[in-house]
Amino acid sequence: MINPSLLLRPLTKSIIHQMVRLLLLLLFIVPVSANGGGVFFNGFTGVGGVNLSLAGTAKITSDGLLQLTTKKTHVKGSAFHPLPFRFKDPTSGKIVSFSSTFVFAVRSKFKQLSGNGIVFAISPTINLSGDTGSQFFGIVKDTDLGKPTNRLFFVELDTIDNQEFGDINNNHVGFDINTIRSNSSITAGYYTDGGRRFENLTLVSGDPMQVWVDYDGVTMRMEVTLAPINLSKPAVPLLSSTINLTDIINDDMYVGFSSATGSFLTSHYILGWSFQLNGNTRDLEISTLPKLPPKSINGGRRNLLAVWISVGVTVFVLALLSGVVFTVTRRKKFAQVYEDWEKEYESCRFSYKELYKTTRGFRTSSLIGVGGFGRVYKGMLPRSKLDVAVKRIPHESMQNMKDFISEVVSMCQLRHRNIIRQHGYSRRKGELLLVYDFMPNGGLDKYLFQHETPSSSYRASLHWNQRFHIIKGVAAGLYYLHEEWEKVVIHRDIKASNVLLDQDFNAHVSDFGLARLYDHGSTSMTTKAIGSVGYMAPELATTGRITKATDVFSFGIFLLEVVCGRRPLEVELAEEKRVLVDWVLENGKRGKIVDTVDSRINLTEQGNKVIEEVELVLNLGLLCSNPLATERPNMGHVIEILEGIAPVPDLSEIFNTDA
Ligand SMILES: *[C@@H]1O[C@H](CO)[C@@H](O)[C@H](O)[C@H]1NC(C)=O
Ligand SMILES: *[C@@H]1O[C@H](CO)[C@@H](O)[C@H](O)[C@H]1NC(C)=O
Ligand SMILES: *[C@@H]1O[C@H](CO)[C@@H](O)[C@H](O)[C@H]1NC(C)=O
Ligand SMILES: *[C@@H]1O[C@H](CO)[C@@H](O)[C@H](O)[C@H]1NC(C)=O
Ligand SMILES: *[C@@H]1O[C@H](CO)[C@@H](O)[C@H](O)[C@H]1NC(C)=O
Ligand SMILES: *[C@@H]1O[C@H](CO)[C@@H](O)[C@H](O)[C@H]1NC(C)=O
Repeated sequence: MINPSLLLRPLTKSIIHQMVRLLLLLLFIVPVSANGGGVFFNGFTGVGGVNLSLAGTAKITSDGLLQLTTKKTHVKGSAFHPLPFRFKDPTSGKIVSFSSTFVFAVRSKFKQLSGNGIVFAISPTINLSGDTGSQFFGIVKDTDLGKPTNRLFFVELDTIDNQEFGDINNNHVGFDINTIRSNSSITAGYYTDGGRRFENLTLVSGDPMQVWVDYDGVTMRMEVTLAPINLSKPAVPLLSSTINLTDIINDDMYVGFSSATGSFLTSHYILGWSFQLNGNTRDLEISTLPKLPPKSINGGRRNLLAVWISVGVTVFVLALLSGVVFTVTRRKKFAQVYEDWEKEYESCRFSYKELYKTTRGFRTSSLIGVGGFGRVYKGMLPRSKLDVAVKRIPHESMQNMKDFISEVVSMCQLRHRNIIRQHGYSRRKGELLLVYDFMPNGGLDKYLFQHETPSSSYRASLHWNQRFHIIKGVAAGLYYLHEEWEKVVIHRDIKASNVLLDQDFNAHVSDFGLARLYDHGSTSMTTKAIGSVGYMAPELATTGRITKATDVFSFGIFLLEVVCGRRPLEVELAEEKRVLVDWVLENGKRGKIVDTVDSRINLTEQGNKVIEEVELVLNLGLLCSNPLATERPNMGHVIEILEGIAPVPDLSEIFNTDA
């Protein structure tokens, strides 16, 4: 697909150019009168076309260039102002002063060879059709050379060394009267430093250059000056000569350009032109002149066969290249890391390509969450049609990868209604991907804390029965991890955001063991290595040992979160409320523990049942988050308390100690 703005851009640009030109034309262009007057073309565009008489190969390009010859051999082209100018003062009969300036460029297939050149001509006719090209510039017939009846004067920019006509070299500027044998000529270049220094210019360089032609009717001084386009007119002319034009030209003469090519493929361009009788010519605005085509193209029309061949070759090469690029990017896009030791985990392994497809290229519309460990995308497994969540975890250090993967794979065998089902993993360079069951109701944290920051993802809060059900589910899941499965699994990061809810608001504990990835990683990850701030058991700071009891501590904080509907640490709150566990404890000591309950929980709903249950959970939360690890219950005991099998813990000891 082509981006439409790419197509529009050059279009609008050219429209702007046209408008600028039109403005310039309206401001400056002058017409065209037989007596006096002049011509001003700052680029060759205008309403209704450009009023020039074109002949031969001459044309106006869409860019506003006057192209005298196309890149062909032995062709000629000319462009003249359609009306003649009166060069003789009608009363005195003397030749009037005139001046002209133009910018030209010669583009040749070969760097140093071209042909034949451009002339700026004052001609009695614009019908040059019978004249030959090549060294005659299309301006004069070879059989008419030197005839006084030619009534012809021109300035030649000659790029061919025709010694038979007295050319000095293949890069010169000359004055010519009725013939192509120059009356006087000089190597192309310009004087600087007040005439003390001469700089060569190469006419066929392809670079645009500016020419000034000035004739003084009184002194009969004819001057031509040349300069690179970025220089202003040099003070000293390149070539000057006294020429009495009286007997050479007619009263009324046409002005314009002619050009011809010989054996070399050459394009001759005029970018802008200004001419004025009886006065100084108006300066061209160099910066707004049309742009030449890129040098490599040379602006010429190619041989049709060559075009077809090159088009064919280009298409072939492009097809080949895009094939290669496609294959390479495809390979790179789907490249994955696969090591020998992973062979035994084959059944648990997803190809990156499969996950890429299932999440529709990890596009933003598939993004369902951004967690502490990475982004989570929704997808569907093609065969089972099962909705899954794919978590992409950036992971630079690969040192514990082997251990971690073996743990991930063993987690794939965990089966419990409150433990998220893990389907497998995939690996790329610097990235680990885990595939879980998709949980339509997302993270529990959204329902608990969202009221603090209303947003588009706002969820209605959960009523107490739902919360209590979730709490029991998480407890059951943790009990399974700690006690029931064949291996002890420490979750390491119990918190509300790691509890996911299915469509019936059943709790599924997720992200177990992920913190382990960072165990021996960089030091900046240390807090993640042992859990999340606010949920970490105090002994972790000293021993760093992860135990079932550290999970129980976090679970205690989690219980308080669910009942109080707030995060464990909220620095913007008043000091006594800031740390959740301290605030609940203080209220408990005063016998007002229920004051800490989330105001969205209706405590009077079912008689005293809700109050009893929230008190139970808050007390259990405090018990689990006891600073002394040995005082915390294990998950089996927790479940007994929650189910009413074991008595509600007596917290008087905790409440009566002064912290
Ligand atoms: C071009 O100039 C000639 C002579 O002035 C005039 O007759 C003709 O209408 C002009 N053409 C355009 C398109 O302006
Ligand atoms: C141009 O000159 C040729 C002869 O050289 C003549 O046949 C032709 O009619 C002329 N065209 C015009 C427009 O004068
Ligand atoms: C230059 O032109 C003048 C007439 O204007 C003539 O007398 C002179 O011989 C010419 N010089 C050359 C070298 O052709
Ligand atoms: C300028 O060009 C002339 C003629 O081609 C040559 O003799 C001369 O050495 C050149 N000068 C410089 C500075 O290139
Ligand atoms: C003109 O352009 C040439 C080459 O493009 C550069 O070397 C030179 O310095 C320029 N001169 C000025 C006055 O900008
Ligand atoms: C120029 O040439 C004409 C005709 O030959 C002559 O009458 C006139 O005096 C010349 N002018 C000068 C300044 O020599």
